[in-house]
Amino acid sequence: MRPHYLEHLADLGVAYLHPLERAATWALISALDLRTGQHVLEVGCGTGGTMALVAAHTAVSIDGIDPLPIMCRQAQQRLRGATYKAQTALYQASGLALPFPARFYDRVYTESVLGFQNVTGAEIMLRQIYRSLKPNGLYVANEAIWKPYVTSAQAAAIYARCMTDFGISQASEQAWSLQDWLAAMQTAGFHVKTARRLEDVVAKSEADTNIRAKQGLFAAPEVNWLRRRLHFTPRRAWRRWQYRQRLRQHRADGQLIESYLFVLSKPDDY
Ligand SMILES: C[S@@+](CC[C@H](N)C(=O)[O-])C[C@H]1O[C@@H](n2cnc3c(N)ncnc32)[C@H](O)[C@@H]1O
Repeated sequence: MRPHYLEHLADLGVAYLHPLERAATWALISALDLRTGQHVLEVGCGTGGTMALVAAHTAVSIDGIDPLPIMCRQAQQRLRGATYKAQTALYQASGLALPFPARFYDRVYTESVLGFQNVTGAEIMLRQIYRSLKPNGLYVANEAIWKPYVTSAQAAAIYARCMTDFGISQASEQAWSLQDWLAAMQTAGFHVKTARRLEDVVAKSEADTNIRAKQGLFAAPEVNWLRRRLHFTPRRAWRRWQYRQRLRQHRADGQLIESYLFVLSKPDDY
C-alpha cells in the first residue's frame, strides 16, 4: 500500500514527523553525542529537517536515506538551501537493505521509522543498522510503541484502520511492547544503554538552557524554508481537510501508544 499521508506531508515540506517533533529531535541529537569528523547515517530521513539541524551544528559527514522519492527530493531542496558545517548526501534506499559497507558509521539514528515496521521488517532493519555501525558505534532511535496492556487484537485492528486511512501506521502491526522491542534489539547484537520515555527525556532537555540557545540559532533558516513551501493550492487544502477529519477519528489511538528514546551501542568485540 502507498504511504499516501506521508506523501501529502512531504508535498507540504513538513519536517519532524515524529512524536514531540523538534524538541524530541534535540534530545536525540544530544544522545547521539556527535564528534567532529564522524560518519553519521539517518535511516528514513523524511524531508531532511533533522539532517539540517545536525549539519548546521557539527562538522560531521551525514548521509540520509529514504525510500520515498518525494521525501528525497524535499530533503535535497532543504539541504541545498544553506551553508553547513557538515557534508551531506542523500540516497533513495530502504533501511531493509542499506547500500553501505559494513562497519562504516559512527552513529545511526531513526525517528519514527523502526517502530512501524512489521516483525520481519524490524528484525531486518535492526540487523542492517547493526552491520553498518563501527564497533562502539551508537544507534539512537525515537520510536512509538504500544503500551504494555494493548492486546494483539487491538493493535491489529488499529493498524488495519490506519493503513486504510493513511497508508501507514503509528506503531507496529504486532502488539510489541517495550520488552519485545528490547529483546529484538538485543537479538540483533545491540547493548541497550538506555530506553527512556521520550516525555521524560524531552522535559530534561528543555530544562537545559544550552539546548534552548541552540534551538534559537537554528530557527531562522528553517522557518524561512517552510514559509516558501507553505503555498496552498485548493487541491492541497482539500487533502489537508480530509486528513484532519481522519486524524480526528484516530485521536483515541494515541492513548495506546508511547514513545521511547533508545540509545543502543554495538559492542567493541564484534
Ligand atoms: C513518520 S516519517 C519520519 C520522517 C523523519 N524521520 C522525521 O522524523 O521527520 C517515516 C519515514 O520513514 C520512511 N520509511 C518508511 N519505511 C522505510 C524503510 N524501510 N527504510 C527507510 N525509511 C523508511 C518514510 O518514507 C518516511 O520518510
